[in-house]
Amino acid sequence: MIDSSSSSSEPGSEFTPEDKPRVVVLISGSGSNMEAIAEQIKNDVIDADLVAVISNKPEAAGIQKAQDRNIDTQIVDHRQFASREEFDAAMIRMIDGYRPDLIVLAGFMRILTPYFVRHYLGQLLNIHPSLLPSYPGLQTHQRALAAGDANHGATVHFVTEELDGGPNVIQAVVPILDGDDEISLQKRVQIQEHIIYPIAVKWFVEGRLSMQNGVATLDNKTLPLSGLQLSS
Ligand code: GAR
Repeated sequence: MIDSSSSSSEPGSEFTPEDKPRVVVLISGSGSNMEAIAEQIKNDVIDADLVAVISNKPEAAGIQKAQDRNIDTQIVDHRQFASREEFDAAMIRMIDGYRPDLIVLAGFMRILTPYFVRHYLGQLLNIHPSLLPSYPGLQTHQRALAAGDANHGATVHFVTEELDGGPNVIQAVVPILDGDDEISLQKRVQIQEHIIYPIAVKWFVEGRLSMQNGVATLDNKTLPLSGLQLSS
């Protein structure tokens, strides 16, 4: 069920200095957000170790990208499990083997069970392609266009049991332009995703960002409901 025919032997067996925060990234697809974070870790902008990239899809293109960066990769194929609970239990075993301080959902397209979310509460960040709380769920670009919104964007938020409902950390606001279609809008939003996600990860690993009692705080100040907003 768990394919370890990846770039390393046992989870957590690699050497990393104990003093650096340990980050695990979960992906299902192309892994561009994972790469944006990995790049800033490589360049010492983010002082952390990216200890593993884990995908629920063997064919996720981001797996090769992680291997090209010599990052440990693992596949936990959700299709091999009878239930969501069993899949999440296997994910937890795999993730915990890496002793992470932070788990980053970067295009990880599985709904997580409450058990999983509670296990990592306060250590789980997600990026979502909309200005949450607008448009949780799928087809966010299409829905923002259909509604005739002036702005769209992306949000990094803490994960709670409510789908796309945890407290916001940072948002990038992207104006919708005349003639935009789903593809053009998605491209501009993704450029911003690659800016805001590394910022949020940096804040977290520096101990500046946390979630307590369902509220996100940065430097001990409660963040606004939108999260910190960047405009492009
Ligand atoms: C990103 O655009 C992210 O916002 C979205 O998936 C894409 C993954 O791209 N996430 C969601 O829709 C989560 N609900 P990537 O694999 O290139 O980072």
